[in-house]
Amino acid sequence: MLNFDDEMAVSPIPGLGMQAARGFMPALSANAAARQEQAPEQTVPAVRAEELRRIRVEDKRIINGRTDVNQLVPFKYKWAWEKYLSACANHWMPQEINMSRDIATWKDPNGLTEDERRIITRNLGFFVTADSLAANNIVLGTYRHISAPECRQYLLRQAFEEAIHTHAYQYIVESLGLDEGEVFNAYHEIGSIRDKDEFLIPFIDTLTNPAFKTGTPQADQQLLKSLIVFACIMEGLFFYVGFVQILAMGRQNKMTGAAEQYQYILRDESMHCNFGIDLINQIKMENPHLWTPVFRDEIQGHVKTAVELEYRYAEDTMPRGVLGLNAPMFKEYLRYIANRRCQQIGVEQLYPGASNPFPWMSEMTDLKKERNFFETRVIEYQTGGALSWD
Ligand SMILES: [Fe+2]
Ligand SMILES: [Fe+2]
Repeated sequence: MLNFDDEMAVSPIPGLGMQAARGFMPALSANAAARQEQAPEQTVPAVRAEELRRIRVEDKRIINGRTDVNQLVPFKYKWAWEKYLSACANHWMPQEINMSRDIATWKDPNGLTEDERRIITRNLGFFVTADSLAANNIVLGTYRHISAPECRQYLLRQAFEEAIHTHAYQYIVESLGLDEGEVFNAYHEIGSIRDKDEFLIPFIDTLTNPAFKTGTPQADQQLLKSLIVFACIMEGLFFYVGFVQILAMGRQNKMTGAAEQYQYILRDESMHCNFGIDLINQIKMENPHLWTPVFRDEIQGHVKTAVELEYRYAEDTMPRGVLGLNAPMFKEYLRYIANRRCQQIGVEQLYPGASNPFPWMSEMTDLKKERNFFETRVIEYQTGGALSWD
């Protein structure tokens, strides 16, 4: 049985042993090297003992950790590992969803109204590039600043899910024969989409900037701010007008293939958002000095701006009432979601009393209950959750 409390009692195996981990523990190695330089003959044994010590749970940190990121166990952040397992159990692929009814509806001149078509093209216009932004933010930014391997493991899965989402949106664009140039350039050419992306870019740029490093209160606050914007605003707010619109369409038996794709994406995204919130709260717990009143005010300001941007997007995608929805309903909905996000990370709510005009949305993430709601799939798709070797 593995016992991680034991101190290292064996010599490292050349090329495979603990020595190899040196390069992955920069802070510790730098200190050790400095001490070694000062008094090599006295400090070498102590330094070696420190470097060779087995990883202890209490030494792990979400940011600025000094433990070897290559060692997944011993687990400290079990919530991250459990989310990784759940995400894998929810695996799905876009091409398994039957799009033939959607194609027939889209090609039929009377299949959809102009307003409904606008909702589809605007939706895809935002999402075809949004999930690439999300993936790049994870792979080129967030990942390298997170020093807990359980969280990195989830981020790897999340990055793949973002690729699946981009695939799904592309698959819908291709199935319906939409103008790819128009859809993929919407984030440059459609004001309400561009404004959302322009709001996000500086926060993504912070993390993807090769010169950016955590380790000072100021840099750690910058990281935390970007994580909050990514999880609570991008994934937790900017996706929701689009999700409601397409799922409402599916509930009216229109574009059910696209709606089912969105339903799977919504399930993934709710987990991304929840993971992000757990990550943020854990960083707060480990670094309480970052969570200042000024910082919280700044977060509230960003949430407020985001609600305004998303509401403008709602108005642009839906200039008139359609599918039993109208823009003012989204004002209330966005306020409700914004309150929820604030409350989840411990920031004061901005819109007390806002209520949820779309209570059916919460059922949409529960595919066990809603499985085959749109009846577009020939198989039930959940794998790996309960392997049995009996
Ligand atoms: Fe996504
Ligand atoms: Fe996501």
